[in-house]
Amino acid sequence: MRFGHFDDERREYVIDRPDTPHPWINYLGTDGLVGIISNTAGGYAFYRDARLRRLTRYRYNDVPTDANGRYVYLRDDAAGTYWSPTWQPTRTDLERYTCRHGLGYTVIGSSRSGIEAETTYLVPVDADVEIWSMRVTNRRSEPARLSLFSAVEFCLWNAYDDATNFQRNLNIGEAEVAGATIVHKSEYRERRNHFATFTCSEPLAGFETQRDAFLGPYRGWSAPAAVERGETSRSIGVGGSPVGVHHVRIELEPGETKHILFVLGYHEDASETLDVAAARRSIGQFLRPEGVEEALKALRERWERRLSCLQIETGDPDVDRMVNTWNAYQCAITFNVSRSASGYESGIGRGIGFRDANQDLLGSVHLLPEEARARILDLASTQLLSGGAFHQYQPLTKRGNDEIGDGFNDDPLWLIAATVAYLKETGDWRILDELVGYGDCSDTIEALHGHLLRAAEYTLRHRGPHRLPLIGRADWNDCLNLNSHSTDPDEPFQTVSLRESDTAESVFIAGLFCLVVADLAEIAERRGETETADRLRAAVDEMRAAIDTHGWDGEWFLRAYDAEGRKVGSQENDEGRIFVEPQGICAMAGIGLEDGRAARALDAVERELATEHGILLVQPAFTTYRPELGEISSYPPGYKENGSVFCHTNPWIAIAECRLRREERAWEAALRINPSRREAISEVHRCEPYVYAQTIVGRDGVDPGRARNSWLTGTAAWAYVAVTQWILGIRPIFDGLLVDPCIPESLSGFRVVRRFRGATYDIRVERAESRVEGGCAVWVDGEPIDGPVLPVFDDGGTHDVRVTLGGGE
Ligand code: GLC
Ligand code: GLC
Repeated sequence: MRFGHFDDERREYVIDRPDTPHPWINYLGTDGLVGIISNTAGGYAFYRDARLRRLTRYRYNDVPTDANGRYVYLRDDAAGTYWSPTWQPTRTDLERYTCRHGLGYTVIGSSRSGIEAETTYLVPVDADVEIWSMRVTNRRSEPARLSLFSAVEFCLWNAYDDATNFQRNLNIGEAEVAGATIVHKSEYRERRNHFATFTCSEPLAGFETQRDAFLGPYRGWSAPAAVERGETSRSIGVGGSPVGVHHVRIELEPGETKHILFVLGYHEDASETLDVAAARRSIGQFLRPEGVEEALKALRERWERRLSCLQIETGDPDVDRMVNTWNAYQCAITFNVSRSASGYESGIGRGIGFRDANQDLLGSVHLLPEEARARILDLASTQLLSGGAFHQYQPLTKRGNDEIGDGFNDDPLWLIAATVAYLKETGDWRILDELVGYGDCSDTIEALHGHLLRAAEYTLRHRGPHRLPLIGRADWNDCLNLNSHSTDPDEPFQTVSLRESDTAESVFIAGLFCLVVADLAEIAERRGETETADRLRAAVDEMRAAIDTHGWDGEWFLRAYDAEGRKVGSQENDEGRIFVEPQGICAMAGIGLEDGRAARALDAVERELATEHGILLVQPAFTTYRPELGEISSYPPGYKENGSVFCHTNPWIAIAECRLRREERAWEAALRINPSRREAISEVHRCEPYVYAQTIVGRDGVDPGRARNSWLTGTAAWAYVAVTQWILGIRPIFDGLLVDPCIPESLSGFRVVRRFRGATYDIRVERAESRVEGGCAVWVDGEPIDGPVLPVFDDGGTHDVRVTLGGGE
């Protein structure tokens, strides 16, 4: 069952009933003011940091879900009735409803008893305002007398404090009203230099700034007392819960439309007294319809420009629309927001994860090369002198997060992966010489290249009895905690003190090391640092040997050795016999390609882990809690790391299958989790059909196929890389753009238009009738070239590339 459809032309997802299985959300804004908005206008806004600069409140874990948002109530003043044109929060029946989620904007339109309303929500490029642009039309044959009440509930900036510290919160709020501008200035008097404004383009009939006054006691957002009365009390908030409510009265002749604008703004101002007039001037352009039209146009152009970096035509709509629009968009959003704020991430927990951000970059480096460069340097600056890394940092301060600390032993290696991807995309080798400090010692300043070498050394210094890397707190699988042994549910696995262990080792980190350090050696070689290159190559060989001897379980790659030196992810185990991660990463690193072990491991994945909804993380799932394995076994079987389809890992298998040139299997691995392909079973999948989710409940769960934690997941980047760079095979390498398609029989060919290092490559791939020498033949601008690497032109031009793939043998 579907709840909407894709409008590919407009790059929008159109939802045609408000009661989707979950709030289906979108993002407004990317780097300054950011908002999450659901299909019924739920959600919240923040400036840069969802924890420290939260503008508006939202209630997670609420019933009904998705409470608090960007609400406007429409009231028929003659009849005394009212409703929400976005359905929430009154949930009054609407005669027509559509929500269009687009790139950086959302439009929600509806009609009820002859009154049409359509609101476009957007955050313009380069302005820290959230605009609600509303058109109200009277379709009746009589004039209509209406009231509009806008409503936001302000958050007292620090979202964690806001949700916990009520003895303070209920006395700290402050608001003022100047004309049609409501100012939220809580804590400005203290040491803060920021405030919010909520402004309306129309003269006000009234306002509220106190939640109590607006809603009335014991009433919710679905029935505010002021709306029911049709009259506000002009409350001025001190203490309590500050809100922003404008009351506007309009009269519409039959057929008449009125355009009303509400603008939420964030302002920084270090002066003693806050300057409301200046703040209003700064948003003035957005209080005019033309200003908003321009902002929307600029926003659309920005996304078109970004997405035009890579557009494909394969003829498969699920693949095309994901790559061309939604997956790329999701990559950019995850790059910006990391794992901080979504329908599932509360914005008060994780900041920017070291491993997450590095991986997110893999899918967005071509879209946001400058931002990617800055991000790599930020990440490197939170690295530790030991070569290790803070697991997370706060985006506002760019300081490592002490609470979680370090010791996730895969973390530092991902910095190499990200830098390699950046180099291959941009050819900007100067980044390696950028000087960066360390998170625990800002006095030591070193070139980025030195940071990368320290990352590799860190792994080499932390090896266990089998010469495999020590796992530390955890590797990619945050929940495989082999050194925690916690039996106290009040102790978070991520922070519980580590027991001293030089035993627990990770085959996953070993595979990752081989994958990324091979590239690091290549980089050293190209920089003329031959000795370093040799040393790194020798280290990779040694690591491969360790995997060969101690990381192979007979039918698949072992997952780890626990703190007692026992195997994890082995045929010897009763549960948790096979894990997907080492199968993917080892084959991606080319381990076992020649001797058939990679093929056997991937056959085992297909046999033991593949389901109709995707590839499971582990089987059999753990049925009891095992302190020696940690959080993984705290989840019920089929959920999260304990045997769900942890989507992030599925593209690894697709890439690994490409390395084996098993086209059909690669395609299948990519398609199974493709959200657009799952749209038809939205009632099962439940999450948004336009973005990947972190997990899909596995076959051991009670609701297999149900997705959770949509939007902010490393799946976005990896799915994008798997499809564009491995299956379609248009892959940046150090010397240019490699053409190496690995497409299924069902595709007769495809087209990719790719911007790369200053030129556009218009690539058409077709199958030949007969065998082609070397597997594929390539013509550039009509001339055959030697081999499959497209040269770097950097001439601002467009180059025509024809590729013929070998037919039957
Ligand atoms: C979450 C984390 C990611 C981790 C994964 C597996 O998605 O953000 O860092 O690798 O879970 O545990
Ligand atoms: C939990 C989740 C895991 C995530 C981690 C982040 O352990 O299961 O997926 O990576 O929290 O803190």
